[in-house]
Amino acid sequence: MSDRRTGTAPLAERDWLARTGGRELRSIVFSSEEIERRVREMAVAIAAHYPPEEELLVLGLLKGSFIFMSDLVRQIERPLHVDFIVASSYGAGTTTSGDVKLLYDPTAPIEGRHILLVEDIVDSGNTINRLAAALETRRPASLELCALLHKHLAPDLRLEPRWVGFDAPPEFLVGYGLDHAEDFRHLPFVASIDG
Ligand code: IMP
Ligand code: MG
Repeated sequence: MSDRRTGTAPLAERDWLARTGGRELRSIVFSSEEIERRVREMAVAIAAHYPPEEELLVLGLLKGSFIFMSDLVRQIERPLHVDFIVASSYGAGTTTSGDVKLLYDPTAPIEGRHILLVEDIVDSGNTINRLAAALETRRPASLELCALLHKHLAPDLRLEPRWVGFDAPPEFLVGYGLDHAEDFRHLPFVASIDG
């Protein structure tokens, strides 16, 4: 039997249980329809922000941004290049340098280009603070951040996101790229879970 549902079609009541292996979610916080609408709005604002003749490199922070990134760039109506960056978080207490360990460093040149970092969620801000510092040393023409979700918990962000999809509640969120122990990334909406 073929299933006519697509990734972004509304999930019928509790149909997501197949995707979670029967594990309960607390609630759906942002539906796939809401996300789709908001991503389109952000893409329009991003396209309008950059001078048309200048080079734009959209850098997705893996893994969490992979779905957001792919939906976002498909709605940005201007030339751009895509690359990714993978940053490791050090274990607590292993560093005081504020340095970030890059597991995958973009092969695309950074210097002189407009860099748009794409992140799934800004929580403590540690990741973005470290990454922004690392990228600034490579002298981009500009460095901006686009985050799908912002918890507004970070006291002093080095790089405030210029574009935010949604202000997020101070809960643990999963889906649309966000994981809990690698589970739930493939849910087409953002949900909260217990714990
Ligand atoms: P930060 O460094 O604390 O700002 O958080 C950075 C990363 O932690 C994000 O890019 C996410 O991958 C992850 N993260 C933070 N909050 C959540 C959440 O509520 N759900 C899933 N992942 C999260
Ligand atoms: Mg994560």
